[in-house]
Formats: sequence, C-alpha cells, structure tokens
Amino acid sequence: MHAYSNCTEVCLASLLYNPRPFEARTLARHFESKAICPMQAPSSKIRTIRSFVRRTGRLTPSQQKALQELWPLYGIENSGELLDFAALFGRESEVVLEIGFGNGETLVEQAAASPGKDFIGVEVHEPGVGHAMLKARDAGVSNLKLIMHDAIEVLIERVPATSLARVNLYFPDPWPKKRHHKRRIVQYDFLALVTDRLREQGVLNIATDWANYAEHIDTIIAESDRVTRKERREHDGDQPFDRPRTKFERRGLRKGHRIWDWSLAKTPA
Ligand SMILES: C[S@@+](CC[C@H](N)C(=O)[O-])C[C@H]1O[C@@H](n2cnc3c(N)ncnc32)[C@H](O)[C@@H]1O
Repeated sequence: MHAYSNCTEVCLASLLYNPRPFEARTLARHFESKAICPMQAPSSKIRTIRSFVRRTGRLTPSQQKALQELWPLYGIENSGELLDFAALFGRESEVVLEIGFGNGETLVEQAAASPGKDFIGVEVHEPGVGHAMLKARDAGVSNLKLIMHDAIEVLIERVPATSLARVNLYFPDPWPKKRHHKRRIVQYDFLALVTDRLREQGVLNIATDWANYAEHIDTIIAESDRVTRKERREHDGDQPFDRPRTKFERRGLRKGHRIWDWSLAKTPA
C-alpha cells in the first residue's frame, strides 16, 4: 500500500479487498510494480473490457447540426483533466451524473425538473448525444453538460473523489449471454469507483428490465461493502424510483419485461 501514498484512500484497498474482482487483482499487481494508483492511472492502460460496442448509427442532419452548433454550449471536451464543477456550471451545487443516457430524454427531463442541481451526462453513442443536445436546447436547460466518452474512463480520470451527489445508471446494456457477463458495467470494481466519486450521503440509482441482470446486480450489491441498499423495487413500470420512464424501459415493457430499481447509499467510511 505504501507505493500509493498519494492516492485517495479508496483506490488499492478497495480493489484488493474485493471478494470477486474480474480484473482488480491483475490490475493491482500491474500497477504495484509501477507504483501507479489504478484509480488515477491513464485509463487506456487499465481497461480491456468495455461495457459497450460503438454502434455506427447514422446521424440525422439535425443531430449532425446539433453536434456542430450546440456542442460548444453543452459539450465537455475529453481533455483528460480533472473537472472543476463549480467552474463548469458557474456555481456550487449538487452534481448528478448519468451514465449511458441513450437519447438523453430522461436526463434532460430531470435537469429541467431540478434547476437547482447540475447534471452531467456521459454517453458514447454519437446520435444519442446529438439528440440530447436538441432536447436540451428545446427545454432551455442551462444546468446540463455532456461528455461523449466511456463513463468508466471519465469517472477514473475526470471526476474528483467525493464530488458527486448522485449517479444514475438506467437500463445499462444487459449483455444477456453468459460469455458476455464480464462486459456488464455493474461489477464490484464499478461500485468501488462510483462510491469513491460520491460524496458522503451520495446515492447510486440503478434500473434494469433484464431478470438475469437484476439477479447479478442483487449479488454484487449483497457482497459489496461499498454500498448499502436503501430501496429495491420490482414492478411493471408503475413504481419507478425517482426518475422518469426511459426509452429502453418503454422498450422492455413492450416486450413484457418487469422492471427493477435500486437506490444505494454510499457506505460510510
Ligand atoms: C440500453 S441503453 C439505455 C439508454 C438509456 N439509459 C435508456 O434507459 O433509455 C445503454 C446505453 O449505455 C451506453 N453505454 C454503455 N456503456 C457505456 C459506457 N461505459 N460509457 C458511456 N455510455 C455507455 C450505450 O451506448 C447505450 O446508449
């Protein structure tokens, strides 16, 4: 541990104290030999398994125009620098970060409904980012910024420790085939990373419509010492936990899926 004396306290301890890490021990060994903190290392060196495949969806002309004209207003460049939320939004506020916002409609709706908070959306799908900016402009929201990049890398490189009031992960890619389960974003390391970035009293809200992913999430939550379950709901789309209905939720409901929502508190240090 002494090799990481300048790390936030979570980094290696949480990764090593991980009952079923998928890559933590390998990473820890790798970075121990180099005296680099895994939580602060350049992400290109520490991630091999991604939770997404870049879809080559075509941009509509209006999305293309939005990416050119509205990006200066809503976009955060992927500079690799640590973000300064107060400078970014021009005020001290509670910051909510949504991972994988899809077309952004839910994100914009939440930003419009809570003008006293600031929102950051992270998504890799370019048409979704274009769509979200059009919605943000139409809603006239000024408390929203978007990053077009892998959310894990953003959390590792750009989000300061204990800075976020809330993280939302709505209907993450389910990776239903067993051989793809390692691609699921909800893992022990993910909870360690998110909770490190959450302030005390911070919450992580998750929703899914895949029964098998819900089981996986329940297992990870039960065995993780980083989060405490505040609330769990299983429903037919009629009891969402503090969020609007999302596009992928609607899609799941059309297929007859049930919906699971969790609200997780960061376990006090
Ligand atoms: C199933 S969709 C759900 C979209 C939206 N949350 C909804 O409920 O309608 C999952 C989204 O997460 C995005 N995604 C997956 N992994 C990501 C990552 N590591 N960083 C950023 N976005 C990611 C995908 O591009 C996709 O748009």
